[in-house]
Amino acid sequence: MSETTSGAMGGPRHGARRLVVFGVTGQLGRELVERLDESEWPISELVGIASAESVGETFDFRGDDLDVVGEWPVLKGWDLVFICTRGLEVLEIVRECLRAQVPCLDLTGALSAQVEVPLPTALGEAGRADDAIASAPLIALPSATTLAWATLLEAIAGAAEIRRVIGTVLSSASALGRRGLVALSEESIALFNQADPPDAGPAGQGVAFDVVPGGGIDPTRIRLELERLFGESLRVDVAGLQVPTFVGEGTSLVIELGSPLEAALLESRLAAADGLSLVADGIGSRGLAAVEEGVAAPTGPTLRDAAGVDEVLVGRIEPDPSLSEGRGWRIWLATDPIRLTADHALRVAGRRLGLA
Ligand SMILES: NC(=O)c1ccc[n+]([C@@H]2O[C@H](COP(=O)([O-])OP(=O)(O)OC[C@H]3O[C@@H](n4cnc5c(N)ncnc54)[C@H](OP(=O)(O)O)[C@@H]3O)[C@@H](O)[C@H]2O)c1
Repeated sequence: MSETTSGAMGGPRHGARRLVVFGVTGQLGRELVERLDESEWPISELVGIASAESVGETFDFRGDDLDVVGEWPVLKGWDLVFICTRGLEVLEIVRECLRAQVPCLDLTGALSAQVEVPLPTALGEAGRADDAIASAPLIALPSATTLAWATLLEAIAGAAEIRRVIGTVLSSASALGRRGLVALSEESIALFNQADPPDAGPAGQGVAFDVVPGGGIDPTRIRLELERLFGESLRVDVAGLQVPTFVGEGTSLVIELGSPLEAALLESRLAAADGLSLVADGIGSRGLAAVEEGVAAPTGPTLRDAAGVDEVLVGRIEPDPSLSEGRGWRIWLATDPIRLTADHALRVAGRRLGLA
């Protein structure tokens, strides 16, 4: 560790916050810095940390070009640490935060199974997670998949008992980080040019124009997080597929209820829920249109529809014919997992810092 605070801007200002972002050069770190930039929070210092390979790079924050730092600053005295890295060092960062008594928001999933660490989802009107967020030394953010599913399930849970949830998650290359995007891009170019394929990326195998079963997400993490949030009586099954798209995540979710729920009531609850946006049947795909006259317009919401959107797009609400009427529903969700996670992190951080 060094005393360096390069990457900091301005000097200390009374009441202004000093923040640390681990993983600042990654997809999530960048998105988070953008959200912080847009916030009107008083921030006097921001340090962005990445691996040694990124030293020499810079990032923009409120008009200042800040250095990416390879060595950790002394954490004591900072107001909040965000962890957005990949790799094995997460628990070391967590231990250092505890030693320095700096609150830490983990966005990597490393702490999700620890029941003493709060796992806030949507911070509804009641703000029921507020007490824990205000005082806990560590806060874990659920995975983007859990965030999306939990927002939907919370909206339904008030109207009917949810017995079982079975989801198939379609993840894009960005689920495996910046290197995942580079791999899909380089492999696609090689395929178009009929050139030799490049070395495999983080998926450990070729991904261009292929579907990788079991890829993209961590089903165990999602199951554990949902059990923590909804109790062990909720039965959950999750399967993952990596599909050859660059961004976004889709889920085909089947929900089994303890009692019948009418379509109209289900739709009205979903339409009224914070964080969900119901996409009606019909043209749903932003920028896409039927290519031939007389051919049905494409329906959404697609993963492209969700890019850059901070809500969970919900569509294609269909009865599950294998269950009695109203007891089973199949619902499609499309999200921008990075945007969803960064926005949620900002909401939680705002509460912790007393700024939102
Ligand atoms: N991608 C998603 O959809 C998504 C959504 C929600 C949560 N998350 C979670 O967020 C985390 C980051 O995901 P991402 O997609 O942003 O990954 P990413 O693009 O691969 O970025 C990883 C970041 O971690 C940094 N890093 C790696 N090793 C490090 C080390 N030893 N010390 C300090 N920094 C190090 C990288 O720095 P270099 O650039 O120098 O390598 C980079 O800044 C993961 O834990 C992921 O599970 C991802």
